[in-house]
Amino acid sequence: MLVIGGPAANDVDRKLADRLGCRHVRAVSKLFPDGESYIRVPVDVSGEDLILVQSLFQPQDKHIFELLLLLETLKDLGARSITAVVPYMAYSRQDRRFLEGEAISVQVLLKHIWLAGASRLITVEIHKEEALRSFPGEAINARPYRHMAPVVQELARDPLVVAPDAGALARAAMLADCIGAEYDHLEKLRDRQTGKIRLRPKRLPVQGRDVVIVDDIVSTGGTVAEASKHIIAQGARKVIVAAAHLLLVGDALVKLKSAGVEAIVGTDTVPVPPGVKVVSSADVIMQYLPKCTV
Ligand code: R5P
Repeated sequence: MLVIGGPAANDVDRKLADRLGCRHVRAVSKLFPDGESYIRVPVDVSGEDLILVQSLFQPQDKHIFELLLLLETLKDLGARSITAVVPYMAYSRQDRRFLEGEAISVQVLLKHIWLAGASRLITVEIHKEEALRSFPGEAINARPYRHMAPVVQELARDPLVVAPDAGALARAAMLADCIGAEYDHLEKLRDRQTGKIRLRPKRLPVQGRDVVIVDDIVSTGGTVAEASKHIIAQGARKVIVAAAHLLLVGDALVKLKSAGVEAIVGTDTVPVPPGVKVVSSADVIMQYLPKCTV
């Protein structure tokens, strides 16, 4: 078995190969002056079982195309099987038609990952697990909470785990279960035209307590910042955030800090800035892959 890292593997490829004891190589990549992507596989892969790692953070469309180029090339070069490890699955939030005529983007993406040659897919904490039904092969959603638990426990004492909306309640339940805590949720309302969010007022038992806000993605930071303000206004002692994918677009970090968030726990499915506590997604993923025998 051979682990191949794509240009957006974010070093998860090397960590996975180390943990599994597998051979490892990076694809060669560059951008032409006009912005087109170039990919080359520098080793013989014929007859090999491959693990291809490519995450799909910004710029998503470029990283998606690199993934498709790699899959098609590996298939064409005679790989025996390809497991695509996609730590961050872009477009996962567009998993249905919220407004008439919209593309169901994640369906299109998963279909093309399959068509390009991946027979198996492993991703980390996809927005909704049901979306993986669009992938015709075996698809695994690796949950990060068991690995986040010790980090969260170091930062928060006897916390209440809070989801910012009912959709994230299952995530709160999973983390709460790992740390033996209680959990609850707020109610987020999103305007589908403007994307603006607001929280419906809701009392939570947070007075004098530490609170962990759990979500899958922190993008602009708006959701978690609103939740944090709400919780602090109700007398919480400390707020920390735990989310698998810290996209942290624009001034998201500043927004979180000014909303009273004291610490952020995430994973390396996407590149994260210094100061964030990072759990290795290779640790989360490796249980679904066989070790290499010498
Ligand atoms: C949406 O439903 C997701 O689970 C996250 O809550 C959302 O993507 C966070 O986005 P933002 O940080 O921009 O509020």
